[in-house]
Amino acid sequence: MTAHTGKARLVLIGTGGTIAGRGGSAVNTSAYDCSVLGIDEILTGLPAAAEIADIRTEQLFQIGSENFGTAHLLQLGKRVAALLQRDDVDGVVITHGTDTLDETAYFLHLTLKSAKPVVVVGAMRPPSALSSDGPLNLYHAIVVAASRDAHGKGTLVVANDEIHTARDVVKTNTFKQEAFRSPYGPLGYIVEGVPRFYRLAARRHTVQTEWSIAEIHDLPEVGIVYAHGGMTDHGVRAMLDTGVRAIVYAATGNGNVAASVVAALRDARSRAVHVVRASRTGGGVVIRNAAQPDDRYDWLAADDHVPHKARILTMLALTGACDADALQRAFLTY
Ligand code: SIN
Repeated sequence: MTAHTGKARLVLIGTGGTIAGRGGSAVNTSAYDCSVLGIDEILTGLPAAAEIADIRTEQLFQIGSENFGTAHLLQLGKRVAALLQRDDVDGVVITHGTDTLDETAYFLHLTLKSAKPVVVVGAMRPPSALSSDGPLNLYHAIVVAASRDAHGKGTLVVANDEIHTARDVVKTNTFKQEAFRSPYGPLGYIVEGVPRFYRLAARRHTVQTEWSIAEIHDLPEVGIVYAHGGMTDHGVRAMLDTGVRAIVYAATGNGNVAASVVAALRDARSRAVHVVRASRTGGGVVIRNAAQPDDRYDWLAADDHVPHKARILTMLALTGACDADALQRAFLTY
């Protein structure tokens, strides 16, 4: 980086998504090409950012986030960790497709070993669209990453004037701008370009977790089976043949498991595949030993983790002690 101006020194990493998209016309708010604008082009469209921070860019990927795999998570995490170790980097902002942004952010929240701010940001409308949320979301992400107040708060997600903890935030809508919500509310707002925090995430993250991205070289495969009325055991049995190490069962309600699926999930456990009961409802907790006898079946309850976040946590937990007690503790700790 060049001479220090006194402004925060940030690295802006581009990975693709709608925030890097372009539509055929300004009214194409939901149908457009994703992941076409380079990160330099995106930043050039936001001259106000230079007043906040000295920003260096890196184009790490140029993909829709539905294509993010575990190799992308590891590559991104290791790059961010390396940048955060540098004395000339005060924080990192990552532009990302919104579809799996909450998963990537949660992975970073659990594996980075730094108190420096890391902010993940996307957009629901491409910069070419009327009322695109991209420029303001990105500006706000830069403002937050440049703020001393964001230190030590884990990986953050910024959208619609709100600052969310990566642990809680979930994408909840296919096309509306107010798609990102946290069940307990955001940590704070950005008001007139100034972050205001009102609360903190209570569960452990970043420097307090047992995982360091530097020590993780691959991640075990964990699948999700989505429950529905008229449920059969076909999905679980098919998944068992793929060699997964755990199945997150996105159950109905408070982790209820249809009678037609219980035997297949018990077979999973007898084949050393962990079974995690989560809920497809999108809110609330799955209570251990309530809807199902987890102690007897040696199953796990995901607490309040939505199924796709439960998958991230299960993958990480399986990189360490793999017994059910250790995994259950992880769900109650993080
Ligand atoms: C994606 O997740 O890459 C596409 C959708 C979006 O960014 O909103």
